[in-house]
Amino acid sequence: MTGTAYGVRMRVLVTGGAGYIGSHTVVQLVAAGHGVVVVDSFANSKPTVMARLAALTGMDIPVHAFDLTDIDKTERLFAEEPFDAVIHFAGLKAVGESVEKPLEYYENNLGSTFSLVRAMRRHGVRFLVFSSSATVYGDAQEAATEDQATSATNPYGWTKVMQEQVLRDVARADPTMRVALLRYFNPVGAHPSGTIGEDPQGIPNNLVPFIAQVAVGRREALQVFGDDYPTPDGTGRRDYIHVEDLAAGHLAALTRLASTDAPVSTWNLGTGRPTSVLQMLHAFSRACGRELPYVVTARRAGDIATSYADPSRANAELGWYAERTVDDMCADTWRWQSANPTGYPDA
Ligand code: NAD
Ligand code: WQD
Repeated sequence: MTGTAYGVRMRVLVTGGAGYIGSHTVVQLVAAGHGVVVVDSFANSKPTVMARLAALTGMDIPVHAFDLTDIDKTERLFAEEPFDAVIHFAGLKAVGESVEKPLEYYENNLGSTFSLVRAMRRHGVRFLVFSSSATVYGDAQEAATEDQATSATNPYGWTKVMQEQVLRDVARADPTMRVALLRYFNPVGAHPSGTIGEDPQGIPNNLVPFIAQVAVGRREALQVFGDDYPTPDGTGRRDYIHVEDLAAGHLAALTRLASTDAPVSTWNLGTGRPTSVLQMLHAFSRACGRELPYVVTARRAGDIATSYADPSRANAELGWYAERTVDDMCADTWRWQSANPTGYPDA
């Protein structure tokens, strides 16, 4: 780790760095002068992402293709490469699938964190930034503050609650560790170049990727899951955050970990402003230049009316603010989706 007038420069292991949020964070890490190594099993991403990252950053990012639940491979990586910090994005994230395959979710998400933290401790790597989620607020996601009790409503959510608890306990037992638990709200958008973005496999579970596929002609119409919620237009409201703002939050957290005395810091990353399904659909229509078709259907099981962050702790302690608007999120998503109608190439 080297200090410069502009802050610390670290050698950072980015797990899940080929995925949606990880890939955007890799670009910003390189731009800030950090050294980056990626590990990804490609369980939910394609190796061709790495060529796009090379084009954007001007360098080939070293990538190790293995599953982090493999304790021996994880240990070997740490034995071979010196890291200052880990940003841990790797994990499975589909709520519905986690209900169908709970064991796979617990094994993958908890197992990868166990082997990673074990290797970090053995090799004296102290800084860890962890991808948590607003899902840890359970049903109480309205104006959520970090001090609220955590809970979950599905196995995916429980893996996040449990991983947070494991990390708090490990940091308590080893006070030299510095852990950031970043609770993301709803990440959307893409890099402004349109060369990297979100590439869901199969039918998108999430709102904005679905709208984007309607806009590009891959899906007929958006299904709006309920218009009878207690919200101004009756549709569900969420705190959508541009993935570029989210990536910037990781860099801010990394810098803060190098100077804080607190073993564990928990920060919400959101805008603090809710947007409804219909507001998002209309914003996307503006971005792509045509009215997008939709049908109102029944509520989706497990959905809540409104979710948004109180981001004031991250604002104050990190000097970080989500700056991009919903129109920016739609314009950037549309640039990515229209240039890559079927996502990343297979090879
Ligand atoms: P993503 O699926 O695009 O990226 C995750 C990456 O991790 C993928 O490339 C996948 O191949 C890899 N991976 C999964 N399990 C692995 C394992 N055992 N070993 C090695 N690699 C593995 O997801 P994302 O949207 O970029 O999310 C990143 C993180 O942020 C996840 O932990 C997710 O739970 C969390 N998160 C995401 C959202 C969201 O809506 N996208 C919201 C809150 C939190
Ligand atoms: C947003 C709104 C839907 C799709 C999920 C996870 C959460 C987090 C982020 C990781 C809701 C409505 C959606 C569609 C719709 N992930 N909708 N038609 O449910 O807030 O959060 O992703 O941690 O844990 O639960 O996001 O994008 O699925 O839904 O009307 O086709 O859009 O009902 O109101 P959600 P979402």
